Amino acid sequence: MNKITVIGAGNVGATTANVLAHKNLAKEIILVDIKEGVAEGKALDMWQTAPVNSYNSKVIGVTNDYERTAGSGIIVITSGLPRKPGMSRDDLIAVNAGIVKEVTEKAVKYSPDAIIIVVSNPLDVMTYAALKASGFPKHRVFGMAGILDTARYRAFLAEALNVSPLDIQALLMGGHGDTMVPLPRYTTVGGIPVTQLIDAEKLKAIVERTKQGGGELVKLMGTSAWYAPGAAAAQMCEAIVDDQKRVFPVCAYLDGQYGLNDLYIGVPVILGQGGIERIIEIEMNAEERKDLDSSADAVRVVMKVLDDMKLF
Ligand code: NAI
Ligand code: 2OP
Repeated sequence: MNKITVIGAGNVGATTANVLAHKNLAKEIILVDIKEGVAEGKALDMWQTAPVNSYNSKVIGVTNDYERTAGSGIIVITSGLPRKPGMSRDDLIAVNAGIVKEVTEKAVKYSPDAIIIVVSNPLDVMTYAALKASGFPKHRVFGMAGILDTARYRAFLAEALNVSPLDIQALLMGGHGDTMVPLPRYTTVGGIPVTQLIDAEKLKAIVERTKQGGGELVKLMGTSAWYAPGAAAAQMCEAIVDDQKRVFPVCAYLDGQYGLNDLYIGVPVILGQGGIERIIEIEMNAEERKDLDSSADAVRVVMKVLDDMKLF
């Protein structure tokens, strides 16, 4: 790909750009921030690792210069406040909705054919804001959360079972919040159902820890995570650039799937060069279905806050 733009050169944005560069995913990676010099400095620092780390992607930082982002194939939006201790992801909406709207409008003006990946929180609702602000079709606007949340779940399981995280396949659905829905029935270890390898109590504790996974890191660091979020956003870019048709949990716009309408929420999709190429509808039992519906209700509560802001 010629160009990928990452908006927000903070913890997550800079990490995403760094992983993208290491994977050589674009000729140019443009890092944009509002704070004078920050994106320029971080980009220069990253570019100076290219000779050591053997990549060619040129990382370029700019302050609010959207003209420089023109012709991007992917725009990753990470700008906005992160969570601080005591804040939920949803507390961020008042500030972040305005930021996401503004940066989306500016970026799409110069990259009308791009795919947008939203990272800013509250994720499901910010992705909706980017859809509205861009006017793009829904398969080209989606959010990153499911890969991160599933990665946390897989990492906890790998540790508990003393196996490689690579061998844990898992699915997690729902909103990016404490109501997310890890799905043990769809979790396997080298093809073996996880329920055959771990007792029910331990599995339940891991599911609960996963749901609070973002908050655990906020408590430890005083701000939210960035290594795993940056890696997850870059993995989505890789699936698009290389047209990999990967099956990932992605925050996608639903219009009827799972009986849900006009809502962004995490579901399994096929990700390729066109963006979301298909939303996969899995069979769910009554309990899983109830959990997904509760999660959708929680997202709708935050959607109402966005609606009441009357930004669109
Ligand atoms: P950060 O504070 O380190 O970086 C945010 C950056 O956005 C700052 O450098 C700031 O100057 C910039 N910014 C603010 N307004 C801007 C504007 N109008 N134009 C361009 N840049 C602007 O925050 P961090 O840790 O990087 O988190 C970023 C966002 O990602 C937060 O909303 C956080 O909650 C969210 N997040 C989402 C995750 C997910 O799974 N979806 C995981 C981790 C974080
Ligand atoms: C995370 O899950 C806070 O959304 C952020 O790390």
